Amino acid sequence: MDNKHFYITTPIYYPSGKLHIGHSYTTVAADVMARYKRLQGCDVMFLTGTDEHGQKIEDKAREAGVTPQQFVDDIVTAPGGVLDLWKLMNIQYDRFIRTTDDYHVAAIQKIFRKMHDNGDIYKGSYKGKYCKPCESFWTESQLVDGKCPDCGREVADAEEEAYFFRASKYADRVRDLLLNTDFLEPRSRVHEMVNNFIDCEGGLQDLCVSRTSFTWGVPVDFDPGHVVYVWLDALFNYMTALGYQNDKYSDLEKFWPADAHFVGKEIVRFHAIYWPAFLMSMDLPLPKKVYGHGWLNFNGDKMSKSKGNVVDPYLLSERYGVDALRFFVLRTFPFGSDGNFTNELLIQTINTDLANDLGNLVSRTTAMAEKYFGGKLPGARQANPELDNSLVSLVTGLCSRYEEQMEKFQFQNALEEIFKVIQRANKYIDENAPWALAKDMDANGVRLGTVLYNLLETVRICTVLLTPFMPDSCGKIFAQTGADAAARTWDSAAKWGVLPADVQVHKGENLFPRIDMAKELEELDRIMEEAKKAALPAIEIEPQTEEKVDFDTFCKSDFRAVKVKDCQQVKKSDKLLKFTLDDGTGTDRQILSGIAKWYAPEDLIGKTLVAIVNLPPRKMMGQESQGMLISAVHTEKGEERLNLLMVDDKIPAGAKLC
Ligand code: MSP
Repeated sequence: MDNKHFYITTPIYYPSGKLHIGHSYTTVAADVMARYKRLQGCDVMFLTGTDEHGQKIEDKAREAGVTPQQFVDDIVTAPGGVLDLWKLMNIQYDRFIRTTDDYHVAAIQKIFRKMHDNGDIYKGSYKGKYCKPCESFWTESQLVDGKCPDCGREVADAEEEAYFFRASKYADRVRDLLLNTDFLEPRSRVHEMVNNFIDCEGGLQDLCVSRTSFTWGVPVDFDPGHVVYVWLDALFNYMTALGYQNDKYSDLEKFWPADAHFVGKEIVRFHAIYWPAFLMSMDLPLPKKVYGHGWLNFNGDKMSKSKGNVVDPYLLSERYGVDALRFFVLRTFPFGSDGNFTNELLIQTINTDLANDLGNLVSRTTAMAEKYFGGKLPGARQANPELDNSLVSLVTGLCSRYEEQMEKFQFQNALEEIFKVIQRANKYIDENAPWALAKDMDANGVRLGTVLYNLLETVRICTVLLTPFMPDSCGKIFAQTGADAAARTWDSAAKWGVLPADVQVHKGENLFPRIDMAKELEELDRIMEEAKKAALPAIEIEPQTEEKVDFDTFCKSDFRAVKVKDCQQVKKSDKLLKFTLDDGTGTDRQILSGIAKWYAPEDLIGKTLVAIVNLPPRKMMGQESQGMLISAVHTEKGEERLNLLMVDDKIPAGAKLC
């Protein structure tokens, strides 16, 4: 990488449903990297976008009764959609590409034609196993237990006339790239790729790169009926967004080859095998790095259906702040491995790192500066090498230790370096006991000022380096600790003594309040329960019975209008009401009905109801019931509802219903 330019990408997202916290993992990581490089003074291009073609989108649009374009427009731009989520997560991308953008579509057509002209794309017929959700064809030997090796779902036999990309031609070069360079990281993913897809039985297979079974894709302009396979279309976004094969942009020279493609582990195959092979075919320089990160799992599954945890990024950020979320995902799990997301772990991380360690350090330091010096430190200094040196040397070396980890995308380790310093600084407060020094300001005032200055410098340097992770909170810490623009730069993070000697602090709001774990988990449970209820259908009605009843049998049921003379709750039963009814015979009829949950007895007196009167009498709670009252039942938001059938009061008691 030259030091001036930095080009980083995330995968482009399928706008096919609601995004959860796991989806934001790649993008938060890439945003942190982009901000870090900007901090270092690089000219950064951070690209993200949406992958909008393919059968899955066509199917979903049909289900929703809209055109595919309307469908993707809505998911990309609607509240809660992709753009909205990136705004919420404070993602500062430089460019956003949509694969339905005209310039991209035209560029893909040109690319496809060029590969066809150079002989790397040829026409054949495809027989294979197709996984619809992944839009991937598989050979029999690639299936795992007969299912899609990526997502584990059912695959179906498929055959169609199709164009193929001669991937086999590039097998040796790709193998060499993977084994003998650091193109793909973590290195643990390299052997999996080489063994499963290149050195497997039959070697690297040519890739089917067109489809005829649906139309929502980039049309192959020289062969109507074919659309370009979604992965060929999608992968080239990384170059078309810079102006490759189009005039919309002109940044190719500046930014290509990319410094890093961040991708989830399930799409490493496309980025580490086919993407370089496509580029080799087009004689283009290869990206410098593909980094395949792990998944945020939710009880062992990447596809969150919540499973006992609140995973909605809107709700989580409303409760804890976006910065805490951004911080959490990179602090808690090593970037290359999977991690299990739980609300408990999130709260624990907030409490330990942000409230206890960082928050405490900032609030104690600023509070003491205000209390002992009215906010403005005295200019004079009195060092105590025995107490100061180990802190100062730890802090001044931090920037380079952090940089070493950031360059390897080891966010967790970079943060660990910062938090070691923060913990050391909290210990430094205890070692120096400023409250004891403050007892005799004449004798110890200068030393006390020095202790606080050392703490402020420590906070400043840590905050510069935390800025890519928590930009808003760090801005607030700078404001509280008196760090002006010059004290917030990358260069200043490697220097001690940048704050003016008589720095002015302003103690402000507590940035990371401690969360009561037990109460909060209870509250989250309640929220989930409510969300579950809200997701239930408004009204559910029992399906009609298929089984037929013959007319004569039906006619045997004797339905009559009855008037309620009296109605009372049955003693010792919270379900039953006892009705005394006028059924037109002159003798009262008693019916018991389990409807106490829905009616107060006194409200029913005088009403005209419908009863079936020729059922054999039966005993309930020791009392006889002579028939049954007819009600309408349905379910509302998961709760059973019942309404007695009430008819016009003009209808006389005993009138037959038929
Ligand atoms: N459209 C393709 C990418 C094409 S790139 C040329 C795609 N899209 S996706 O929307 O399904 O996924 C986008 C990214 O989100 C992927 O990197 C994927 O790994 C990541 N994640 C989705 N769920 C995730 C977790 N639960 N955890 C971490 N990352 C996750 O793939």
